[in-house]
Amino acid sequence: MTRPATGAPLSRVDGRLKVTGQATYAAEHEVPGAVHGVIVTSTAGKGRITGIDARAATALPGVLKVISHLNAPKLPYRPFRGIPDPAKGERLRVFQDDRVRFFGQPVAVVVAETLEVAQHAASLVKVTYAGERPATDMSAPAGNPNEAENYQRGDVDQALRQAHTRLERTYRLQREHHNPMETHATIARWDGDRLTLWDKTQIVLNTRADLASVFGVPEASVRVISPFVGGAFGSGLRAWPHVTVAALAARLVRRPVKVVLTRKQMYTGTGFRPVTEYKLTLGADRRGRLTAAVHDIRAETSTYEDYREALTVQGQMVYATPNVRQTYRSIPLDINTPTYMRGPGAATAAYAIECAMDELAYDLGVDPIELRLRNEPERDPGTGVPFSTRRLRECFRVGSRTVGWDDRDPRPRSARDGNWLVGTGVAVATYHTQRAPAQALARLAADGTAIVQCATSDMGPGTYTSMTQVAADALGLPVAAVRFQLGDSTMPLSPPHGGSMTMASVGSAVQDTCDKLRREAVRIAVEDSGSPLHGAAADDVVVRNGRLELRDGRGETYRELLTRNNRPSLETRGGYTPGDEVERFSTHAYGAVFAQVAVDERLGLVRIRRVFGVYDAGRIINPKLAESQAIGGMVGGIGMALLEHTVTDPRDGRVVNANLADYLVPVNADVPDVNAIYLDGDDRTADPIGVKGLGEVVIVGVAPAIANAVFHATGRRVRDLPITIEALL
Ligand code: MOS
Repeated sequence: MTRPATGAPLSRVDGRLKVTGQATYAAEHEVPGAVHGVIVTSTAGKGRITGIDARAATALPGVLKVISHLNAPKLPYRPFRGIPDPAKGERLRVFQDDRVRFFGQPVAVVVAETLEVAQHAASLVKVTYAGERPATDMSAPAGNPNEAENYQRGDVDQALRQAHTRLERTYRLQREHHNPMETHATIARWDGDRLTLWDKTQIVLNTRADLASVFGVPEASVRVISPFVGGAFGSGLRAWPHVTVAALAARLVRRPVKVVLTRKQMYTGTGFRPVTEYKLTLGADRRGRLTAAVHDIRAETSTYEDYREALTVQGQMVYATPNVRQTYRSIPLDINTPTYMRGPGAATAAYAIECAMDELAYDLGVDPIELRLRNEPERDPGTGVPFSTRRLRECFRVGSRTVGWDDRDPRPRSARDGNWLVGTGVAVATYHTQRAPAQALARLAADGTAIVQCATSDMGPGTYTSMTQVAADALGLPVAAVRFQLGDSTMPLSPPHGGSMTMASVGSAVQDTCDKLRREAVRIAVEDSGSPLHGAAADDVVVRNGRLELRDGRGETYRELLTRNNRPSLETRGGYTPGDEVERFSTHAYGAVFAQVAVDERLGLVRIRRVFGVYDAGRIINPKLAESQAIGGMVGGIGMALLEHTVTDPRDGRVVNANLADYLVPVNADVPDVNAIYLDGDDRTADPIGVKGLGEVVIVGVAPAIANAVFHATGRRVRDLPITIEALL
C-alpha cells in the first residue's frame, strides 16, 4: 500500500533550486539586450514639480534616456478594477502630470546600459518642487474622511445602558512596511505591441490585466512570468507603479528594461499595513457574557485611493454578542496607498478585540480563557448560519494543557525571575476562509509522468510542493513523477495568491483536474480490448504508483496504456467554483495563541520566551510546510507587537527608517521558542479539499497574546503597538 502524499511532511520540491541559486527571481531572468532603469523619487511630500534638469544625467556615456512627465507620452490608463485593488479611487498614474502626491513618488526614470551608470545618472537628475506640507497623520487629515462602512445588529445603546460592566478602550497600531527578502522588480520587453513582463507578483493575471489597461492593449497581448517570489506577504497583490515604469521605459528606449526597487524605495513603491485606531466599547453581564460591542475604526489611506481591509469581520462573528455596531472610516493622507499585509484587517482587529477581552477578564476577575469560552457562539452570531467547523474550545484545551495555563497565578506582577517580570497571555485568532474560482490543466505523458499547471504563485508557503502532493494523490502517481508549474499568465485561471485561499481554490481545482485525468485514463483502459482491464467496471479500478489496477492485481501502468494506444499524452482541464456553501456556512480558521514574555523591570526590555499556537485550519496538506507557515506568521506577530514601526517625518512625509537597520524586524535572538500545532481533521464543507487556509491566521492573535502577557508580567496596559521600552518605563 502506498502512502498518500498529502498529509506527509514533504520537503519543498523546489528547495534545491532555491538553496543552490537556481531559482530565478524577477530581476534574475536573462533577457538579452536588457538595460537598467533607476527610478528617481520625489523629495517633496506634496505639491508640484517645477522643473527637472536632466542634462548632467543625459550627458553621461551609457545613458539612453531620462523619462518624466515632461517627455512621457499620455498613456491610455483605461478604467481598471483588479481583484485585490481598492474599490474606489484611481491608481497612481506614472509620469502623467506634475503633481506630487506623496514623498517617494516616482518622478523620473533613468535608463542606461549598466546599473551603475543608471544609478549615478539618477543621482544627477535635479528636480525642483513647489512643495507643501503633507498630511501624514490621521489627527490632521488631507481631506474629509471617506464614507463610513457601517454594520449594526440589535440595540447597542440600550444594551450598554443595562450592562453590568462597561469598558471603553482605544488601541492603535503604527504603520508597518513590507520587507520581503526579495525587493520588487520587473523586467519589461515589447515585441511590437506585445508586452512580456518578468515580475515579482502574487498574481500574474492581475498584473496582466492592469498593464493591459495602462497601455490600452488587449490582455492577450501581455504575458506575465513569475516563477519564483522571494516573500511577499501581500506586497505582490497589485501591480505597483514601477511595473508601469519598466514597461513605459522599455517602449521608449526600444530595449528590454529592468527596474529593481531599492530597499528604501520599497517603503514608498509598494503598500504597507495602515495606521489603525480601533476604539472598542464592550458591555457585559456579571458573568462576563458580552451584551454589546461598539467598534469605531479609523485607518489611513491615500488621497487617490480608498484602501480598505477586512477590519470588521472578526467583530461580527468571533463572540456571541447580540448587539453590535461598527463604523469603519478611512482617512485620506498624503501617503502612498496602503495594502494588504499578512492577516490584513484580521491581525489588527484581533489586537484590539483580544486585548479588550483580556482587560474585561481582569475587570471581572474571570480567567481570560474562561471568559472567551462563556462567549462561544453556537452559530455565526452575525449571519445566523452554522459554522462549517469551529473548534476553538479544543484549541484552548490543547493549548492550555501544553503551556500549563491553569498553573499560572493570574495576578499581574506575580511571577519574577531575577530582574525579569514574567507573564503569560492568550488571544484568539480567526481568519475567514476565502475561495474563488480556479482552473488547472493536467497532462500525463506516455512515460508516466505528469505536468499540472495553474497561473498561481508561490511566494513562500510551498505552493509548488503542496500542489504536487495533491496532484500526485489524485493521479495515483509518486510525487517524483509529477511536476507542478505556476507563475505564468498563459496558464489556467487562478485567484490572487493571498487571503489564504490558494489551497482551498487552486488545490480544489488541481484535485478536480487530476481526478478527471485519472478517470479518463481508466475509461480508456476499460474500453480498450488490448488492456488487461478491458471490460472491468471503472469504479473498481484504482491507480497506485502509476499503475491502474483491480483488487486482484490485474492491471497496467499509465505508460503501458498510453504507449499501446499511441498517445503521446493525455490532457485534461478542470476547475473549482465555490457554491452556495459559502453563504450557507460560516467558515473560518481559528487558533488559540499563547505567549510568555519576560520584561526587565529596570530597563523596560521585553523578551519573548515562548509563543505557542494551536490552530483549527481544516485539513493539513503538508505538516512541515504548515509548521513553517506558523513559525513565519508568529515571527511576524512578534514584529508587530514589539518592533515594526515605520517612522515618518511630518515635515515632508519622508520615511526616516526606510532600511532594515532602522526598521526593526525580529531576528533569531528575538525568537527563542516558537511553535504551533494543528488539530487533526478537515472541513469538507469549506471546499472540496477540506482546508480552511492557514497563511494568515497564524499571524492573527500573536500581538494581543504578547500585549496581554506584558500586562500579566508588569501590570501595565500598553494600547499602542509596537510596545516600546519607553512605554514600559
Ligand atoms: Mo496575503 S496579505 O493575502 O498575501
